[in-house]
Amino acid sequence: MSIAIAIDGPAGAGKSTLSKAVAKELSFIYVDTGALYRTIGLAAARKGIDKNDKENIVKILDEIEVKLAFNDEGTQIVLLNGEDVSGYIRTPEASMYASSVSAIPEVRAFLLDLQRNMAKNDNVIMDGRDIGTVVLPDAKIKIFLTASPETRAMRRYKENLEKGIECNYDDVLKDVNERDYNDSHRDIAPLKPAEDSITVDTSDYDFEGSKNALLKVIKENM
Ligand code: DC
Repeated sequence: MSIAIAIDGPAGAGKSTLSKAVAKELSFIYVDTGALYRTIGLAAARKGIDKNDKENIVKILDEIEVKLAFNDEGTQIVLLNGEDVSGYIRTPEASMYASSVSAIPEVRAFLLDLQRNMAKNDNVIMDGRDIGTVVLPDAKIKIFLTASPETRAMRRYKENLEKGIECNYDDVLKDVNERDYNDSHRDIAPLKPAEDSITVDTSDYDFEGSKNALLKVIKENM
């Protein structure tokens, strides 16, 4: 039987960077489920559909095929109708679209099997918002990875600057708060810790400290 580790938490808590590093250390496959919602958001944006136009977003699901694949370095890539869109889904616009489309039940249902299938045959660390609560309720270990909104906004702000994406800190903090609110107040699969999850707060840790804290919890519960 394969082993699944579910890592949920708010945007910018370091889920993807940390999950990727921990997966490498444990020789698990890392699955970033946010990329799937971002891809649906990108598809809607490309069609010129408003991010709140639920009806038309649901309609385009019939024309969309989303697949996850891994490149030679083991990094996840996401394919939208066969096109590698991994580079296009990280913009602030794609983030806001992702947050909107992820509140649509049809979108969540559309992506559910794809996520579950990833965990069927391989040991996975899967990160998202509802992995421990909905996607993989039987995951061996469930972690709720979090940090204060200010810490998360500062991390994202620095990340954006490093990538050459212009922004200012206050806007990023506003985005973080808005996305937290959307993600945790939606009716379907809201962001919340699974009852049997372990919370890891990385506000006071740098990358190495966070990684060690995460690995410690995982090893203790394996
Ligand atoms: O983790 P991320 O920032 O790439 O996620 C993008 C959006 O997708 C985010 O607003 C929440 C949503 N999401 C979700 O609802 N469920 C998941 N399992 C993963 C992401």
